[in-house]
Amino acid sequence: MSQFIMAIDQGTTSSRAIIFDQHGRIQAQAQAEFPQYFPNDGWVEHNAKEILEGVIQVSREVLQKSELAASDIAAIGITNQRETTVVWDRDTGEPVYNAIVWQDRRTARVCEELTLQGKENWVNKKTGLLLDPYFSATKLQWILNNVDGARERAQAGELAFGTIDSYLLWSLTGEHKTDVTNASRTMLFNIHELTWDNELLELFDVPSSVLPEVCASSEEFGYTREDILGAPVLVGGMVGDQQGALIGQACFHEGMAKSTYGTGCFLMQNTGTQPRTSHHRLLTTIAYQVGDTVHYALEGSIFMAGATIQWIRDGLKLIGHARETLDMAKQVGANNHVYMVPAFTGLGAPYWDPDARGAIMGLTRDTGIAEIVTAGLQSVCYQTRDLLEAMAKDKAVPTRIRVDGGMVVNDWVVQFLADILQLPIERPEITETTALGAAYLAAISAGQKTCLADVAELWQQERSFEPNMERAASDQLYDGWLDAVGRVRSHRD
Ligand code: G3P
Repeated sequence: MSQFIMAIDQGTTSSRAIIFDQHGRIQAQAQAEFPQYFPNDGWVEHNAKEILEGVIQVSREVLQKSELAASDIAAIGITNQRETTVVWDRDTGEPVYNAIVWQDRRTARVCEELTLQGKENWVNKKTGLLLDPYFSATKLQWILNNVDGARERAQAGELAFGTIDSYLLWSLTGEHKTDVTNASRTMLFNIHELTWDNELLELFDVPSSVLPEVCASSEEFGYTREDILGAPVLVGGMVGDQQGALIGQACFHEGMAKSTYGTGCFLMQNTGTQPRTSHHRLLTTIAYQVGDTVHYALEGSIFMAGATIQWIRDGLKLIGHARETLDMAKQVGANNHVYMVPAFTGLGAPYWDPDARGAIMGLTRDTGIAEIVTAGLQSVCYQTRDLLEAMAKDKAVPTRIRVDGGMVVNDWVVQFLADILQLPIERPEITETTALGAAYLAAISAGQKTCLADVAELWQQERSFEPNMERAASDQLYDGWLDAVGRVRSHRD
């Protein structure tokens, strides 16, 4: 029996392929970055074909590195940047327009108008989401309305829509499917009935002919074309990347939470088999479906986490490498009175303000590079506290949080997070949790594991960070952050 699982992790700035053994240990990995396109203020696009080519390249490379053949791979799990929207021609596979990325704000006015028409509660009841350009519906509507002939071709059944998972699956296997977690981010999917919602399709003027079939997260989605890896391989798992991380962090019980620090930051708490409605502007979303059992989650989404450090490095050129931030932060210390609000593409949860823009505040004559860099790191922790405060108001505070993603290699950041949240923070042994989650789902399809409970025991803690700062000092620093955010918002509640 084939023993290995390949996970494809298609993220916002890079695509990765990782091969895991049956114990969830990494055998080999490969990674390729791809170009980002910013054609207008607030617009963010990817070329879907470039993404596909990169995914095929890293999948082949990881096989080669591990000295395995396609026949050694029991199944592939795909996990992906969510919400990013692709429309392609069913005959040729050619996208009709660049992929519109989750960060893209071009449909802010459409969302605002729908909110003014009083539609937000109605949409929220069906989808668990808020009327924000973040989600796929208005991006798909934009493509159908703005690309020459797209609407007519869609109505004639010639075009297909998908988030990145769906576009990749279609390109690799010919199947037009998605999973419930990705569907739950489109704003077209009813998360209670687990179906595409006709009234939402009408609201956003989307013909049902473009939609993929929605499946559980662990399924036999299809087999890859022989030319991709040399032999057909089962795609046995598909899951949005943040939900993938929740699984990889083994947060299978109600109340367990993880926070992932990638391009953005996403704090997600498993709320069990019942959806839980937030009254404080968090999202209700599907965590995963295995067999007939669906788990739901409460989620807070922040648009700029690692991307803030990337901007400090590539935009401001204050550092040459992210690892330099550790010494700078140690030198400045937690008591930094410079605040950076990284609202480059507006603010996500709990503010949902697409028109807010970034700012650095509290500068004095002795402010230097180190203070600004430290403020960038701290902004990520303060934003996580914003999410935690919203969870507290919803009476859903986790007792501890498991963290992962590129930024958590920085011990100073994780310690400051524990201090600002006043909660223990757990860092796992394997921080590739997103890919691991997709691999577990694929392993269930391939018959290597019978259920998610089988993988819970594979999770191991590398280190726990306990709060080390007095609550009063922590609250005082956080008050400074709230003041800074108040100054960049385009409106106040
Ligand atoms: O919702 C967007 C999210 O899925 C993107 O994740 O890891 O690419 O920042 P990441």
